[in-house]
Amino acid sequence: MRSCSTPAMMRSAQLALLALAPSVVSAITTGFPYGSTTVRGVNLGGWLVLEPWITPSIFDNTGDSRVVDEYTYGQFVARATATSVLNNHWNTFITEQDFIAIKNAGLNHVRLPIGYWAWDVSGGEPYVQGQLPFLAKAITWAQNQGLKIVLDLHGAPGSQNGFDNSGQKGTPRWQTSQSNIDRTNAIIKKIALQYASQSSVIPIIATLNEPAGFFSQQLLDVTRQYWYDSYGNVRFPFGNSTQGNTVLMIHDAFQPLSYWNGFMGTSTGRQGVAIDTHIYQMFSNALVAMNNSQHISNACNNAGELSAFNDLWKIVGEWTTAATDCAKYLNGRGTGARYDGTLSGSPRVGSCTGLTGSTSTFSSAYKTFLRQMFEAQTITFERNANGWIYWTWKTEITDEWSYQKGLAGGWIPSNPGTRQFPTICG
Ligand SMILES: *[C@@H]1O[C@H](CO)[C@@H](O)[C@H](O)[C@H]1NC(C)=O
Ligand SMILES: *[C@@H]1O[C@H](CO)[C@@H](O)[C@H](O)[C@H]1NC(C)=O
Repeated sequence: MRSCSTPAMMRSAQLALLALAPSVVSAITTGFPYGSTTVRGVNLGGWLVLEPWITPSIFDNTGDSRVVDEYTYGQFVARATATSVLNNHWNTFITEQDFIAIKNAGLNHVRLPIGYWAWDVSGGEPYVQGQLPFLAKAITWAQNQGLKIVLDLHGAPGSQNGFDNSGQKGTPRWQTSQSNIDRTNAIIKKIALQYASQSSVIPIIATLNEPAGFFSQQLLDVTRQYWYDSYGNVRFPFGNSTQGNTVLMIHDAFQPLSYWNGFMGTSTGRQGVAIDTHIYQMFSNALVAMNNSQHISNACNNAGELSAFNDLWKIVGEWTTAATDCAKYLNGRGTGARYDGTLSGSPRVGSCTGLTGSTSTFSSAYKTFLRQMFEAQTITFERNANGWIYWTWKTEITDEWSYQKGLAGGWIPSNPGTRQFPTICG
């Protein structure tokens, strides 16, 4: 048995500890000055992960009502057709022109959702692959424009939330098998190492979108452990004690931010971690029943929860100007809306006409309201958090959700800091 028994040995042990300390506490050189410069960005939703409401035509064109997500798209559409439609979509839905327009809109980040199946399909999973060359293009386009990418794993094996936007709609099963979790960690390890030297263009990796912490304690427990594993995988990408420069972004798993106090902040000896929270105002009967002034107050009232949490960099990684669930297929392909009472269990609030679809059907009063929603939220998220990433840049037919259409229609300013309603939140 060895022990530190002499003063010299004790001193050398103390020196060894001191020698370790600087590598733990030395500041990391992040690819974006999180915490001192405000994140302003857009999501590239519906591109490398299909969502029925973002591109309903891709789903309607199947003529098959069983196709409700990317998994069933691969399962029920003839492989040659699926491959050709998806490749055409990846080639055309987002191009370098979009990155140029995003840059010109005064934004500094794009969040790029991608599913695990881009790297790994096994066990007969029917996904069509071929996304990775488009990820590579996106990185080049972002670099060309000086935009930063949040690389966002939006779907994990088995689905972490059962939402169609995880790839597979239904019951979350990611957390039920160690193999699912191991496959997810393996992808994160791979991409963290692959992009470790490119943290100037991919400064931050979001290792799992929206794990459904509300579904079960077990899912929440698995998520907590997964975030710890992600910390190792992303912050120490070389598999040794050398720290990388890539920031880890965890998601709040639908828990209040206060739940994550003391989980991964500097008090735990960690650094380089951000938390993502998503703020929507249409996914309950009570929310869609609010009138416009209640929606604005609700937006401003996020200040309380956001400002109270200071343990990690905090980014509102999804939010929108839309205030209803009227967008076709927003609640799933073939599913109606709470707002007009076509979703079962939802009392009708009113007609969706004029609240969703083409800008040409929007009244000037509605466009003013959308502008107020934009300003109330950006003001709140910039004052009380480290910034925001809008959901989403482009949609086929639902302009109230589209940043691009908001710019064209005037309810999103061409410089995101321009205010028509600077005192809207007091
Ligand atoms: C860790 O691995 C990286 C990449 O191989 C290497 O550059 C670095 O020196 C290693 N660090 C230590 C402490 O061994
Ligand atoms: C919105 O609803 C609140 C609460 O019911 C009410 O006090 C307010 O007058 C309503 N505002 C408008 C513009 O209808």
